[in-house]
Amino acid sequence: MKKPKSQKIKVVSRSGRFSGGPSSDVAAFSESISFDWRLWRQDILGSTAHATMLESIGILSRKECDDIIAGLRAIGSEIEAGSFQWKIELEDVHMNIEAELTRRVPSAAKLHTARSRNDQVALDVRLWLRDEVVALRREVRFLQRSLVQLGARYPQAIIPGYTHLQRAQPVFFAHHCLAYVEMLERDLGRLDDGLERINVCPLGSGAIAGTTLPINRELVAAFLGFLDDRGRPKLTRNSMDGVSDRDFVVEFCSTSALLAVHLSRLAEDVILWATVEFGFIQITDAYTTGSSLMPQKKNPDIAELTRGKSGRVIGNLMSLLVLLKGLPMTYNRDMQEDKERLFDTVDTVRSTTRLMAGMLNETHVREDVCRRAAGDPQLLATDLADYLVLRGLPFRAAHHAVGALVAYAEKSGKTLDQISLPEFQVIEPLFGADVRGIFDLDKAMKRRELIGAPGPKAVAAELRRWNRLLGDPVTESGGSTGKHL
Ligand code: ARG
Repeated sequence: MKKPKSQKIKVVSRSGRFSGGPSSDVAAFSESISFDWRLWRQDILGSTAHATMLESIGILSRKECDDIIAGLRAIGSEIEAGSFQWKIELEDVHMNIEAELTRRVPSAAKLHTARSRNDQVALDVRLWLRDEVVALRREVRFLQRSLVQLGARYPQAIIPGYTHLQRAQPVFFAHHCLAYVEMLERDLGRLDDGLERINVCPLGSGAIAGTTLPINRELVAAFLGFLDDRGRPKLTRNSMDGVSDRDFVVEFCSTSALLAVHLSRLAEDVILWATVEFGFIQITDAYTTGSSLMPQKKNPDIAELTRGKSGRVIGNLMSLLVLLKGLPMTYNRDMQEDKERLFDTVDTVRSTTRLMAGMLNETHVREDVCRRAAGDPQLLATDLADYLVLRGLPFRAAHHAVGALVAYAEKSGKTLDQISLPEFQVIEPLFGADVRGIFDLDKAMKRRELIGAPGPKAVAAELRRWNRLLGDPVTESGGSTGKHL
């Protein structure tokens, strides 16, 4: 994410029904400008759409509308440059922008016609999140690509696959990488699905019950790109739901929590693989750190932080669910608390996804170490059972016979491939001379060519399929507010 310019925040007072300004304590407690200023772009865009609509129904004259839009544009440039003065007493991004606009352009006093901050904030968050989903999508695609490339760089690398963190069966390293590509693909599916519900225009809901004025909701929705596949405007259908619905925030944070869990599991694999005990990979210096005390250390901090940061993403989801669960209809100020949780989630998943991709691009697989570990003949004990099945033994009996063989090997201090044919046959007469062939690792991998299995052809085909599907992530569609759909 582009680092925002630091913003100036100051204190002033308000008017209307209230005789005086809030105490500084109250202002400091209730303000959201310190974080919701991030919605300024969307707030200006929403106001531009709203003004355009007000002009179309005759509430604003052409000149008033032009002045308002020019004023909004000028304020936008100042915010971008970091010279705009945010005021804490004006609470939030919506009031700050409108108050300053009205000071400069008197006709802006008409801008809030048929609008409430309740539908305004719902709109701004939807607009903001819509862009963020597109940006996150791109990061996830990059990570998928890094995983595919990592697997493809080491097409021959074989590692033990683990269950219960005990060596189980050999798999190609690429097969392991592609497992994460599948997980991420499901995350993308969930992001896309959520986008359907984010991309609905709530403006026109008013504070709770719409408006008596003859506004044109379709025009606003179309202006802001809230359109379905056939180009028809997508509008919220109930004004009460329109202002109080934060499901789309919860859904996004839920999808992000699962993405963060996937990243955390990947991080854990990386951390294990980078230990001396495993030794399967080396991460280059740029993505590791040393110890201030122990000169030999090279720590996988990026992976550890990825694992650690998943905690706050999961926590953000919990905070939101608890925040919403007791709220009576409709808008309640509690809802202001959604933003920091949402912003933190977006920032955290975007940066961890990006950093993990960068780290994997800088990761080297030690194929010799992997092969030595994967060459443990015990990993092919299941293949021995399958051998007996092909000779007619029921699998349960075959499993039992091979279990006895493993116990015998352990007792006699031999590895499975060191056991002689007569010894095999004492345990199960169906074993023939060809049983030794079972322990050839390359041949063993070739016995696994089903769809979804880690055979060399199956994995190569999956790598090709993903390369084709992922294409060039740089040209992936995506863009700025209102234009990306
Ligand atoms: N800053 C507020 C929020 O984020 C905006 C809506 C305020 N609405 C109100 N009725 N006070 O929720």
